[in-house]
Amino acid sequence: MDRIAIIGGAQLNGTIPVSGAKNSAIKLMAASLLTDEPLRLTNMPRLADTRFLGKLLTRLGVQVTESDGPDGQQTLLHAPEITSGFAPYDLVRQMRASFNVLGPLVARSGQAKVSLPGGCTIGARPVDLHLQAIEALGAKIDLHEGYVYAQAPRGLKGAEIRFPFVSVGATEHAMLAAVLADGVSVIHNAACEPELVDLQECLNAMGAKVEGAGTPTVTITGVPRLHGATHAVIPDRIEMGTYAVAAAMAGGEVRLSNARPGLIDALLDKLKEAGASVEETADGCIIRRNGQRLTAVDIETAPFPGFATDLQAQFMALMTTAKGESRIRETIFENRFMHAPELMRLGADISVSGGEARVRGVDQLEGAQVMATDLRASVSLVIAGLVARGETTVSRIYHLDRGFERLEEKLGACGAQVRRIKGDGEAEL
Ligand code: UD1
Repeated sequence: MDRIAIIGGAQLNGTIPVSGAKNSAIKLMAASLLTDEPLRLTNMPRLADTRFLGKLLTRLGVQVTESDGPDGQQTLLHAPEITSGFAPYDLVRQMRASFNVLGPLVARSGQAKVSLPGGCTIGARPVDLHLQAIEALGAKIDLHEGYVYAQAPRGLKGAEIRFPFVSVGATEHAMLAAVLADGVSVIHNAACEPELVDLQECLNAMGAKVEGAGTPTVTITGVPRLHGATHAVIPDRIEMGTYAVAAAMAGGEVRLSNARPGLIDALLDKLKEAGASVEETADGCIIRRNGQRLTAVDIETAPFPGFATDLQAQFMALMTTAKGESRIRETIFENRFMHAPELMRLGADISVSGGEARVRGVDQLEGAQVMATDLRASVSLVIAGLVARGETTVSRIYHLDRGFERLEEKLGACGAQVRRIKGDGEAEL
């Protein structure tokens, strides 16, 4: 299995172009199931997760074609008919978001059999809210042997959907199913993440009538059919935030381009508070740190526009060498501190108790062999490796490949010494 090796100590200087958002791209790809006309997605990231979903969609009848178009990387998705409503365990377990094919399949063809999902091991992550939404829209749901059987032979019906707490995936799933329902649906307590707004824009370009995404109330007036469209995937705010943290960690000056301001304000505010310089630009930001040591600051994860849970591990890595003690509270997922023991292998001083970690900054990290445990945790180890003395090797980087496009190339172009070591058949460390 491949590993990433980092030799710490180099500053980062240069420009990093931000890719299209993984978390948005995979929901937009699922939207292709809703129409018999082609959906062209531009600004598409090429990642393990988009490949997984492409494979699953192909099995369901979608022709998936990746190419370099006039606007860069694009994917054409075309489902003239749904040839199967069956999403097997092997294809769904690798990525939780694959579960979001359930709603579009039932909406378009009246039935689906979809495996319960896998995905990152960050807590229990049930799908009860997803099922509550699809059921509210009139589908009959049965669970047998790890599969969800959903049926709505006469189509879905508009409904009021009230989520007891905010879920990004369930809100997206409800939107994807309700666009073809008969009548009006209202989602209460909807997630407000920017990826929801992106999904609304794409669905509306396909002829849907969705309003309110980005606020807690989303209203969907069902239409009998959708048509093809071209849509550009929103920039990846988590990738942008990750490189912002990497620049603050390593020092130097990094311009993040092809992004959108306003998507990671909660993080940028914390970087400023810690002592990094942040300059917002028309298509991203410039992060600078020249010599001075950062100061510890506290964070608490929260739904958008709060501090993203997907940036918590990276921020913890940053705090390992800041001056003072930082308190990091995780409120979205339980069990999302698996990176802490790995950071401690690099010499970090961290204690975890329940949903809170205390990070006492040390003067210097030391390179070591560490292991990625989930997608965002894996990149936090790379960030720590940027300043650790000597070499850090990160194993199990298939997690990293799920969500970060050409990471070694992007960091390397700014002067980081990062290389991929190809697997040699040796047992996993
Ligand atoms: C999405 C993102 C993920 C991000 C998370 C929170 C994708 C592919 N993934 O994940 O990167 O960390 O939002 O911003 O977009 N929950 C339930 N029942 C459900 C659904 C969720 O109890 O049916 C719980 C989860 O276990 C979690 C919380 O709700 O504790 C929030 O999860 P959710 O917002 O649904 O996250 P995802 O959509 O899975």
